[in-house]
Amino acid sequence: MYSRIFLTGGTSYIGGTILDTLITKCHEYDITVLLRNIVKGDYDSFDIISEAASQANVVVHNGNSDHEGSIKALIASLLRRSSPSFLVHLGGTKIIADWRDPTCIGKLNPKVWSDVSDIEAINSLPDNALHRNVDKIIQAAAAAHGDRLNPAIVCPPDIYGSGWGLGRTQSIYMPEFLNEIKVGAPFYVVEGTNTRSWVHTEDLMTEASQLDIAKAAGKILKKHGLIQQEELKQVSIDQVDTMIKSRHYPSIGRHMFAANSRSKAERAPKLLGYEPKAPSIWETMEADLLAGNASKAM
Ligand SMILES: NC(=O)c1ccc[n+]([C@@H]2O[C@H](COP(=O)([O-])OP(=O)(O)OC[C@H]3O[C@@H](n4cnc5c(N)ncnc54)[C@H](OP(=O)(O)O)[C@@H]3O)[C@@H](O)[C@H]2O)c1
Repeated sequence: MYSRIFLTGGTSYIGGTILDTLITKCHEYDITVLLRNIVKGDYDSFDIISEAASQANVVVHNGNSDHEGSIKALIASLLRRSSPSFLVHLGGTKIIADWRDPTCIGKLNPKVWSDVSDIEAINSLPDNALHRNVDKIIQAAAAAHGDRLNPAIVCPPDIYGSGWGLGRTQSIYMPEFLNEIKVGAPFYVVEGTNTRSWVHTEDLMTEASQLDIAKAAGKILKKHGLIQQEELKQVSIDQVDTMIKSRHYPSIGRHMFAANSRSKAERAPKLLGYEPKAPSIWETMEADLLAGNASKAM
């Protein structure tokens, strides 16, 4: 019997890449996708979401890791099924970022979070951690209905490299960084040693500080004539707080350019034999910045 998958966020950078992989590599699945412009529906179309999810035994939910109404609708529909179902939800390591701690802004935080040894702490982070609102809903459903609902919250760190889906194929960081380089130069805050974990769309997990990203970006942008000088600029925390307002996350500029979010994927190698193989962030940065520049020009 075919497994029926219902996937949301089919036009997104991550969800589109997952959809393309499912279509090209997993022929045994019957796939239904929520798309705003084709099957008219958005995350507030609870009836449409519920109807599609109730016919699937696997739901892959991408696109907005913080939308409470859609996750509640998906869980309620899956729980109406007579047989057990699976829910794969896209969260992210924004949940462990230290952007609210002024002593860590622009400085290296030695804490690296493990998805094995720190799992208790991750599962009981304060309610105001990013994505925690939705993670809590899923955890409560698993605790109450673990015999019928098998949920997995996938938490990637920042992602680099091109996606290969139907819609967006660029991740958020490089285009937004490039956009904010309107301050005149690749930039950092305080010492710039704040460090975040990164994964390639195809898999590779690494770490990079803001200072090192800004230095590498400076060389590439100067080489392509996109900036005059590759020297870096130190910007203030207040300046970073005015950046990327359009993304509707609290203090997203501070989170992306001044905070630490360091994580280690220990569960995937242990349970799935995960082994990173993709190119490093330094190898793809030129292509990512140029793609960000091209999409800005469009
Ligand atoms: N990119 C990263 O580096 C990264 C890393 C870790 C975690 N995450 C998390 O993963 C999530 C998705 O990231 P992404 O970069 O893949 O997103 P993205 O490319 O910006 O795409 C957002 C997706 O959500 C859909 N969407 C947004 N609001 C919607 C609504 N109200 N109803 C229906 N669809 C809606 C969009 O549909 P339309 O095309 O119709 O607008 C699009 O498919 C985010 O919450 C992010 O925090 C991202």
